[in-house]
Amino acid sequence: MNVLVTGGAGYIGSHTCVELLESGYGVVVIDNLCNSNPKSLDRVRELTGKDFKFYEGDVRDGELLRKIFAENEIGCVIHFAGLKAVGESVAQPWRYYDNNLNSTLVLTKVMEEVGMKNLIFSSSATVYSGDNEMPLRETSKTGSCTNPYGWTKYMTEQILSGMAVADKEWGIVLLRYFNPIGAHISGRIGEDPRGIPNNLMPYITQVAVGRREKLSVFGDDYDTPDGTGVRDYIHVVDLAKGHVAAVKYVAAHSGCEVFNLGTGCGYSVLDMVRTFQEVNEVPVPYQIVDRRPGDLATCYADPAKSAEVLGWKAEKSLADMCRDSWRWQSQNPKGFGE
Ligand code: NAD
Ligand code: WQD
Repeated sequence: MNVLVTGGAGYIGSHTCVELLESGYGVVVIDNLCNSNPKSLDRVRELTGKDFKFYEGDVRDGELLRKIFAENEIGCVIHFAGLKAVGESVAQPWRYYDNNLNSTLVLTKVMEEVGMKNLIFSSSATVYSGDNEMPLRETSKTGSCTNPYGWTKYMTEQILSGMAVADKEWGIVLLRYFNPIGAHISGRIGEDPRGIPNNLMPYITQVAVGRREKLSVFGDDYDTPDGTGVRDYIHVVDLAKGHVAAVKYVAAHSGCEVFNLGTGCGYSVLDMVRTFQEVNEVPVPYQIVDRRPGDLATCYADPAKSAEVLGWKAEKSLADMCRDSWRWQSQNPKGFGE
């Protein structure tokens, strides 16, 4: 079966392409490369020894989507394509709503036209309200997002679940990712953010490789064991395997189901810095600065439903995540831009 992967040249998409190809699926990628480099796809081919089609273009381009469905027999779509920088979404809300909502609306319209109604969507733990008890279950309260990016994920969940209510032929899986980090064990693909990284791990690796002077730790006065923020970091290869499990699930089920993809473990910013330094034997200088607006003290998943229903569980440790992130960064100091 062929899986259409939107945003397949990106960080999570490229790792998922590897896992799909290694599990025997065919892959077709559409990506407009607005936040990625096509070298990632060459490396997916190199790692798997398998070829696949790549369409450079925008998911909001319905004509291009019709051409892709006409030229390929697609059995499932994984929709990664989207803009994901929280701060940028506050500065450019229209661009985020346009890209993230219209890509899904155009994609699902064309899927309906061609009668292919199996869809997996990249949602986020950011859809959960800030006042929930931990761990977060799929039934925990959602909404009251703090930025336009979060609202695009929340609204897309509403759109897709409404479509599944109206038309029983849809099989839709909403995957709420926690904090994906790490890289393929080969060090050939990994996260390659443009400009100053927003997220913790790429910032740590860029400090370690000498591209930035020191890490700013955003607050050490939270109500957590060491005062720094606690998150559920998940290895991107585990996350990618969760998508393969979802592809199998959606082929056999209709309706709309939501799953957390997390480990269920919370680690603090200082745990991350310590583990990274220990396993890689490389220093990561840091300073404590003020809290970052909008940050929560603690956020971690209850991944029980994914284990029970999808038969998927994250397997890699924090040490694996730190080691693999560093292998990618140290072998590719400038990312794919080398
Ligand atoms: P990424 O930016 O590396 O990948 C997204 C890809 O989509 C990029 O290759 C980009 O060029 C492409 N793209 C964006 N808009 C497009 C459009 N309109 N048409 C075609 N291609 C388009 O991001 P990622 O980290 O791989 O994230 C993948 C998905 O997972 C995103 O939807 C993101 O919001 C979601 N997500 C990511 C995280 C995270 O921390 N990385 C957490 C939760 C959810
Ligand atoms: C993790 C921890 C920071 C950077 C974001 C999005 C979320 C999801 C994943 C897409 C926090 C601290 C960070 C730094 C730091 N993305 N930190 N110094 O905020 O949990 O989630 O990415 O859906 O929607 O909001 O991840 O990696 O930015 O931060 O101290 O330079 O690291 O305060 O405690 P976050 P993050």
